[in-house]
Amino acid sequence: MKDLKITLSELDTPVKILFTGYLTTVAIGYLFALIQILFTHGMADGKLGLSIDDIVYSYYGNRSGTVLEKKLNGSMKGKASEQETFKIMQWVRDGADETEFTNLKINKIFEKKCEMCHNSGASGIPDFAEFENIKELTHEDEGATFSSLTRVSHIHLFGISFIFMFVGLIFSFSTTASSKYKSIAIGMPYAFLIVDILSWWLTKLSPMFASLIMIAGAGMGASFAFMWIISMKEMWFINNPWFCEPGSPCQRAIKVVSGFSLNSLAYIGKRLRTELFPKLFSILKDSFNWLYNKMK
Ligand code: HEC
Repeated sequence: MKDLKITLSELDTPVKILFTGYLTTVAIGYLFALIQILFTHGMADGKLGLSIDDIVYSYYGNRSGTVLEKKLNGSMKGKASEQETFKIMQWVRDGADETEFTNLKINKIFEKKCEMCHNSGASGIPDFAEFENIKELTHEDEGATFSSLTRVSHIHLFGISFIFMFVGLIFSFSTTASSKYKSIAIGMPYAFLIVDILSWWLTKLSPMFASLIMIAGAGMGASFAFMWIISMKEMWFINNPWFCEPGSPCQRAIKVVSGFSLNSLAYIGKRLRTELFPKLFSILKDSFNWLYNKMK
């Protein structure tokens, strides 16, 4: 048994079904993960599509000012006089202290100019009669919190390493690539996973690491796609009578056990191989190009 070597193409069909089922569901899971990234992080800068800004806002935060300041310069501009607005901003910059709030008569400005709308009766906008609600808007947006980063980090490390355990195990039975390249492909996602998680923390500290998150994410996706495609190809498209030339040894070997005409199967298989698959691949390539241009 020393020379026992499992190859994907020679696996029994039930095992192939098991592997294919796993690979398919994991690929769909990956797709949903990408969509989720697009909707949570992708919208961080207010525009659809993932950009470096999105990543910086999500992890480092948008430290160009507090919500209160941004609103006073934005949709709440003119609600108070210029002088009053300036006083509020000064107070925010000085730390938004509660005693100063009354001492500097900031509370009077809020009562006179804001609370006719921002009161307990209004729904969907903060009630400024409660100091807490004002205070909340004077914190700078610091992106992901340490506790949320800790939570997501350990979930990702445990969960994704499991996914790549099985994808890598299945792929390790492939024969298309040499042992050297197989080892690289199997090890890569783990390296990228660690770099990815590490770069979240680094980006939390400084926005200059944001592009590292993108690179690590893309590397993980690329190694997943590589292992996935090779595994599927070897399981279903090597030594399969559907895809052998009519009358070839590969087809004759299986002819004995099969009841119906393999020549017509091979004909359909050949049409699929030479016509449908190239079309599907070019569609895939186009959509990757489209995605790439969107992300640029
Ligand atoms: C005429 C009614 C009205 C007045 C007066 C008003 N606001 Fe608003 N405010 C709104 C509405 C409606 C929104 C939600 C829409 C938006 O964000 O632009 C809002 C949103 C805000 C927000 C964002 C809240 C959040 O959670 O994102 C802030 C901050 C704010 N107002 C501050 C002020 C301040 C400070 C004043 C007084 C100088 C003021 N507003 C006066 C109606 C008002």
